[in-house]
Amino acid sequence: MTMLSIRNLEAGYGSLKVLRGLSLEVPRGRVVALLGGNGAGKTTTMNAIAGLLPAAGGEIRFEDRELRGLPSHRVFARGIALVAQGRALFAEMTVRENLELGALAARSRPDIVALTEDVFRRFPRLRERVEQRAASLSGGEQQMLATGRALMSRPSLLLLDEPTTGLAPIIVSELGRIIRELNAGGLTILLVEQNVRMALQVADEVYVMRNGEIVLHGAAAELQNSDEMFSSYLG
Ligand SMILES: Nc1ncnc2c1ncn2[C@@H]1O[C@H](COP(=O)(O)OP(=O)(O)OP(=O)(O)O)[C@@H](O)[C@H]1O
Ligand SMILES: [Mg+2]
Repeated sequence: MTMLSIRNLEAGYGSLKVLRGLSLEVPRGRVVALLGGNGAGKTTTMNAIAGLLPAAGGEIRFEDRELRGLPSHRVFARGIALVAQGRALFAEMTVRENLELGALAARSRPDIVALTEDVFRRFPRLRERVEQRAASLSGGEQQMLATGRALMSRPSLLLLDEPTTGLAPIIVSELGRIIRELNAGGLTILLVEQNVRMALQVADEVYVMRNGEIVLHGAAAELQNSDEMFSSYLG
């Protein structure tokens, strides 16, 4: 059963057309990876889904309702949380304050204490640093905080835009494990990555995009052994 269905999506910046008829589907309960090189249009896709960038054409259907044209706070209220590329934390605010800002959606505000506790259980290092400023955290901890903040809204679909950029291999594996755990708990995930190996390990399905279009789609298990084919698309 499809949770998110994107058809012929067109979006860009002024006269620059970046997405030229992009189509992809995210089935409920799955982890879907969207891969592609620098400038392929991955972040543009995520921002269009999240309502941060107006789409010029096409459809974005979530739970069988049209999202296109909704402002970002209404997309968020429907249960889609974006962990932006670069993490977009409030650098001068503490870990706790950043998490609380994630619970602004009406449906999670009453449960802020329990939700914070859930995040700390999942990311014990955040508990130890709860009164520290976000800027003082390591890159891995910042990614965990950005992910934790998104979870505070109790999303049904989590959008992760290049969570592993700049992180040490051991932290990349830890994040991979956390993504699998979140998915096992029922969360549907759209993961943008340039780390092909990591994405193939955590995703059920993979899309590869280039120049604003999907050029390859398949089950991660089938594409595991075709690294060469991947590199030819990802270059
Ligand atoms: N705010 C903007 N204004 C103008 N052009 C932009 C803007 N953001 C992105 N672009 C352009 O749109 C194209 C796609 O960018 P996008 O950020 O979606 O790529 P990406 O696949 O996320 O790349 P990366 O892996 O480097 O993050 C690029 O050519 C980029 O220069
Ligand atoms: Mg990007």
